[in-house]
Amino acid sequence: VSEENQNVLSAYEWVTKLYHHLLRFTKDGKEGYQYFKDRGISDETIGAFQLGFAPNAKNFTSEFLEKKGFHQQVLVKSGLISLNQDNSVSDRFRGRVTIPIRNHLGKTVGFGARTITGQEPKYLNSSESELFQKGKLLYNFDLAKKHIRRQNEAVLFEGYMDVISAYQAGVKNAVATMGTSLTDFQAKLLRRYVDSVVLCYDADNAGTEATYKAALLLLRAGCIVKVANLRENTDPDSFIHEYGGEIFQEEVIRSSKTFMSFYMQYIKKDYNLRNEGDRIQYIEDVLKQLAMIDSSVEREYYMKELSNEYNISMDTLTEELNGHRRKSG
Ligand code: UTP
Ligand code: MN
Ligand code: MN
Ligand code: MN
Ligand code: MN
Repeated sequence: VSEENQNVLSAYEWVTKLYHHLLRFTKDGKEGYQYFKDRGISDETIGAFQLGFAPNAKNFTSEFLEKKGFHQQVLVKSGLISLNQDNSVSDRFRGRVTIPIRNHLGKTVGFGARTITGQEPKYLNSSESELFQKGKLLYNFDLAKKHIRRQNEAVLFEGYMDVISAYQAGVKNAVATMGTSLTDFQAKLLRRYVDSVVLCYDADNAGTEATYKAALLLLRAGCIVKVANLRENTDPDSFIHEYGGEIFQEEVIRSSKTFMSFYMQYIKKDYNLRNEGDRIQYIEDVLKQLAMIDSSVEREYYMKELSNEYNISMDTLTEELNGHRRKSG
């Protein structure tokens, strides 16, 4: 780490503590504290994630850091402070609750900052920098790592609040991307630690599309992919808020579907299964995907399902599937 980046890390460390202290113990941070309380976040969880509040003042953070001896250049480079056209500076995060984003070593390298008054954007993140590259980081990876290893499984979410709620609910092997789609880098990173990944994205259209894309990357990286069984139009955090952590663990995480089962449902949108030609195309499509599944038990399981549902003999399905397996080697 260069000396300048070392200074940036040090600035983030100070500000993480500052915002957390303000939220937890001061009148200025009260609305932020109340916001997390209303979302069911406990003091212990607030502490574990060092959640904080950035006061609604133009130069609160910059003055704090200047007093600590940080130079303007470092402040701006940190992404905590914005440089104005007239060369004055102003705080980037104002009047928002703050979620420190830590790298794999547990050092804060950025913030996600959520509005508590309905402003746009909902989340304002630190800008990308050498230290903060969203495509390379997974939120909460540092805390989740040992649980991920132990369970040989990671649960992947799309939002910070989902990870925080899941963690509080006892799902400790929880990580998230940060508003961008999963990258090949992140898929390979996960693969180094686990055989299996449970995708637990929001149960809306965007989440379903993102699930499909992430699943393909993870499969290509050699992971076993499962898809959590979330009810329509909820996200994991609101599910936990409504039904509690135990039901979440039992009915959402432990009841996750195989990727194949997700896929067979997911691609139905591309076909009109009342139409015979479409039905045949659909079966072909499923078989093509099935051909890429390593486990012969799993392959047979879904072939039987197809065989029963569409009244096609196992022999025919097997012949077709084997054709695809030869092609993909
Ligand atoms: P969501 O909108 O699903 O976030 O976006 P959420 O976690 O459910 O938000 P809450 O519950 O309303 O607080 C998922 C992720 O996308 C990124 C954030 O990382 C967020 O956690 N995002 C979302 C942004 O970066 N900016 C935004 O304006 C919105
Ligand atoms: Mn979403
Ligand atoms: Mn969400
Ligand atoms: Mn949410
Ligand atoms: Mn074919």
